[in-house]
Amino acid sequence: MTQGRFITIEGVEGVGKSTNIALVKSLLEARGYEVLLTREPGGTPTGERIREILLDKDEQAMTAMTELLLVFAARSQHVSQVIMPALAAGQWVISDRFTDSSYAYQGGGRELGIETVAALDAQVLADFRPDLTIVLDVDIATGLERATREAEADRFESEQTSFFQRVRETFLTLAEADRYRVIDAGQPIEKVQVDLTEVIVEFIGSH
Ligand code: TYD
Repeated sequence: MTQGRFITIEGVEGVGKSTNIALVKSLLEARGYEVLLTREPGGTPTGERIREILLDKDEQAMTAMTELLLVFAARSQHVSQVIMPALAAGQWVISDRFTDSSYAYQGGGRELGIETVAALDAQVLADFRPDLTIVLDVDIATGLERATREAEADRFESEQTSFFQRVRETFLTLAEADRYRVIDAGQPIEKVQVDLTEVIVEFIGSH
């Protein structure tokens, strides 16, 4: 059985992850791959409970380090209970956010620093990495306006613009490495989807 591939989708709030993830899933399924769609924080019963704590606006006293440890606690469970078994069974896994969000939000946004996140990453995940990470990029004002248009802001969405600037900058810095593709999510959706299709087709071709 061939091992499946692991694709993650990242970006600040309001970049349109849901719509675009649905497209990635259908592109892969159309080519005969079995796809497992999952998300972080979450993806397991334990992880979904941790997610509730993380997004709860009443958790005002939570420190940045507690936040970092919680996202990695959820991730540890997610990788061993869901992601690794699915990949081993030949499924392709798409995750709505993964470790890059911890670098961007806790390392950048909360200013814990990249090294702190990297140390925990090495401890918890060793060298487990996505095969492809798509960063949907949009300016902060557009993203936040979209994210809070229909739903009430959660604990992260209630942060200052400067927090999201640091998150976005960290994503863009990370994305200079090979495994990343950045897509301009500020374009009309049809154009975003053309770009995304190109990235996925190229990725499939190279595997
Ligand atoms: P998300 O699912 O994108 O929320 P929504 O569905 O409301 O767009 O992600 C939830 C929040 O969790 C998001 O604000 C980013 C944050 N997050 C971190 O801060 N660190 C992490 O490691 C992960 C995975 C998410």
